[in-house]
Amino acid sequence: MNKPLKQHLIDPEICIRCYTCEMTCPLEAITHDDNNVVVDAEKCNFCMDCIPVCPTGSIDEWRIVTTPYSLDEQFGWEDLPEQKDLGDSGGEVEALDDTIEALLAEAHKGAGGRSRAPASAAKPTVNLYNLGKPATARVQGTYRLTSEESGAEVRHIILDFGNQSLPVLEGQSIGITPPGVDAKGKPHLPRLYSVSSPRDGERPHYNNLSLTVKREDGGVCSTYLCDLKMGDEVKVTGPFGATFLMPDDPSARLLMICTGTGSAPFRAFTMRRQRVAAGASGDMVMFFGARTPDSLPYFGPLNKVPERLLKKHLVFSRIPGVAKEYVQDRMMVEQEVIAEMLADPATHIYICGLKGMEQGVEQSFKNIAESTGMPWEATRDVMRDEGRYHVETY
Ligand code: A2P
Repeated sequence: MNKPLKQHLIDPEICIRCYTCEMTCPLEAITHDDNNVVVDAEKCNFCMDCIPVCPTGSIDEWRIVTTPYSLDEQFGWEDLPEQKDLGDSGGEVEALDDTIEALLAEAHKGAGGRSRAPASAAKPTVNLYNLGKPATARVQGTYRLTSEESGAEVRHIILDFGNQSLPVLEGQSIGITPPGVDAKGKPHLPRLYSVSSPRDGERPHYNNLSLTVKREDGGVCSTYLCDLKMGDEVKVTGPFGATFLMPDDPSARLLMICTGTGSAPFRAFTMRRQRVAAGASGDMVMFFGARTPDSLPYFGPLNKVPERLLKKHLVFSRIPGVAKEYVQDRMMVEQEVIAEMLADPATHIYICGLKGMEQGVEQSFKNIAESTGMPWEATRDVMRDEGRYHVETY
């Protein structure tokens, strides 16, 4: 038998074919054909540069093999082969696992670690529609959530899927591919947007969903989406995402921290609880940062959600004459509540929004946990392993 080795693979069922990994790999070990994006075992040196840039997590697949899967084999896959039983390797397999795990832990550091779905989450459908076979949705509504004066334009966009089935769970994303080509004449790559409506639709039992989109300066896809008019057709891929999901367990407690459009999945979580478990569920606590009240998406409707269902901490950084406040600052003010939640195994933490907030939020968690004698990193790692700690920042 050949010496066992760990082979890096890409899950064809989850990959959205955005080719970001291929463009990132310094060794040109990643290539694609019309079917799949694949890793050349002869070239990959486990530098892990491709791991954090993948928007779906499909890049994070490993198999221990004695003969590596060839490129041709990988091009032909519709799904990943199971791990084969290699029998007793005299500790070699375990040593390989440890090495790769250590490298992965390093690669995932910035993204909150390797995520797992909550134990009670429903099973998500992924990659039902791809670039070659997208779903076609029609714009059913588009309206501005933020005031003209606030400067930032964030829109609530409702897409109707007619008779096409696109099952999404709260926390999942869909891919939007803007029409046309880029400066190099290549078709645009898809961009991922979190769905901001619950699984049974923006309107219950209608086959529609909503997105929360901020118009970015020079942003090809956000400009395309924000300029859409009622009735326009949109090509959609997905759904994507198999870990940033809400627990179905009604007694689970949710601690949600977001900035700006990072609130999208939390709107979905909240509406899900309002529709199916109102009054009978674990508590939900939200820390939501925006520049001003009129630039905070869903400010009005959010304020109407009863505090007993959702405890809201709306935090503003640019109210004239008022000291700047970030979500991590308010977490310190509310440290007793957070410490109590951290100590409760029913608590699930979700962080979504600006990448910049990640470090500050972690620091607040660390301060709060350690002030009660709880080691933060170890607590966070246990929560992550149990599918109770999720980070999605951009
Ligand atoms: P700021 O006033 O410093 O831009 P945006 O409107 O750009 O989507 O941002 C949403 C909110 O997140 C704003 O209040 C913004 O404050 C705030 N923010 C920016 N950087 C950080 C950070 N590092 N940590 C926490 N919040 C941040």
